[in-house]
Amino acid sequence: QTHTRADGQGPAGMAAGRGGAARASLRQDHWWVAPAVTVAVLTGFVGYGTWAAFRNAAYYADPYLSPFYSPCLTDSCPRDALGSGFFGDLPWISPAIPILIFPLGFRLTCYYYRKAYYRSFWWAPPACAVPDARRKYSGETRLPLIMQNVHRYFLYFGVLFIGLLAYEAVGAFGFDGHFGVGVGTGMLMVNVVLLGLYTFSCHSFRHLCGGGLRTLSAHPIRRQMWQAVSALNRRHMVWAWASLLWIMITDLYIWLVAAGHLHDYHWVA
Ligand code: FES
Repeated sequence: QTHTRADGQGPAGMAAGRGGAARASLRQDHWWVAPAVTVAVLTGFVGYGTWAAFRNAAYYADPYLSPFYSPCLTDSCPRDALGSGFFGDLPWISPAIPILIFPLGFRLTCYYYRKAYYRSFWWAPPACAVPDARRKYSGETRLPLIMQNVHRYFLYFGVLFIGLLAYEAVGAFGFDGHFGVGVGTGMLMVNVVLLGLYTFSCHSFRHLCGGGLRTLSAHPIRRQMWQAVSALNRRHMVWAWASLLWIMITDLYIWLVAAGHLHDYHWVA
């Protein structure tokens, strides 16, 4: 059934424009489920991530380094961690804090996460065909949200971090100088793969590969890269959630092993 306003501008009972709903949405389905789940998972992650970043203990279970602490740049880091001691002696600060801005900035400004948290936390709008919670909407055209455009620069750090995490994951094959494979090794490898899928399916990376060209077909290599990234990009949301949850599970596992609550099963040659 079609509901139309007398002036023909939109559904009956709803105000014209984005803000200022005259009444609730005409949607009959459970549109609130997705924003509610997003709030629950993101809040859980922020809570866990805060605890993980500030605990400043049990983040290394030889040879596994928690991805929250990678790269580990202070003197208190394990000696064989990449960049260990770079910041010198900072015993009062968790080694996770100085590097936090990069993964956090990358995620916070991600185009997908923006959609997710604008909908779920700010209700701007909460779902398609559901009115905004606020009357005014200025979008990302002015401060502070115009700052979201820095995402393209955070991408470079995101790519750098994939290299650093891959280095640490390869290091997780070394058990006292011997080659080995453990549960933690597998978890760190999966972590790099999922973060890689998330990073290389980024909208900004896609633009970097194929954007700004008048004729894409005249640049076959960039076109092929753009096509590959486009294929990954279709599942960007999936990689975003999978990598977010997995990094949390990996840190939890390493904490359990490092704190002596769990035994790591591994095979050493
Ligand atoms: Fe999500 Fe770039 S758009 S990481």
